[in-house]
Amino acid sequence: MKSSCGTRFAFLVLFLFAAQFMCVYAGSFHKDVQIHWGDGRGKVRDRDGRLLSLSLDKSSGSGFQSNQEFLYGRAEVQMKLVPGNSAGTVTTFYLKSPGTTWDEIDFEFLGNISGHPYTLHTNVYTKGSGDKEQQFHLWFDPTAGFHSYCITWNPQRIM
Ligand SMILES: *[C@@H]1O[C@H](CO)[C@@H](O)[C@H](O)[C@H]1NC(C)=O
Repeated sequence: MKSSCGTRFAFLVLFLFAAQFMCVYAGSFHKDVQIHWGDGRGKVRDRDGRLLSLSLDKSSGSGFQSNQEFLYGRAEVQMKLVPGNSAGTVTTFYLKSPGTTWDEIDFEFLGNISGHPYTLHTNVYTKGSGDKEQQFHLWFDPTAGFHSYCITWNPQRIM
């Protein structure tokens, strides 16, 4: 994703939604995020708050969001996506400001039926307006192992 951006972004909050997901973190998930969706399917797994898991079943997925807002930065997530039939699932992390004319940076993995590849879908919203979709077919299997995915956002550009 490469898109220069003339507009100044408001502060964005990091959201992460996933089907099946395990996340290791150097800070504390207890302190820095809230699991705001999924009715118990998202869990901090240890006392120090280093390990968080998200899961999906037939009725719901799960997600968390950062407590803090950011103006510029780099959000890096290591993810391994659901293998097999993942059609209808979206595993995503995105930055979004609150309000009705919001700013947003999206990184979404669209699931597919067994044997067919995921599509990576990105978008950037400024003041509630998107229209900057890009789609990618990955050159590796994102379900075979963990990979790092990263949004970099600075005054010059979003990558
Ligand atoms: C599913 O895979 C097919 C190729 O087999 C591809 O054309 C299509 O875009 C994929 N759909 C999604 C949602 O990724």
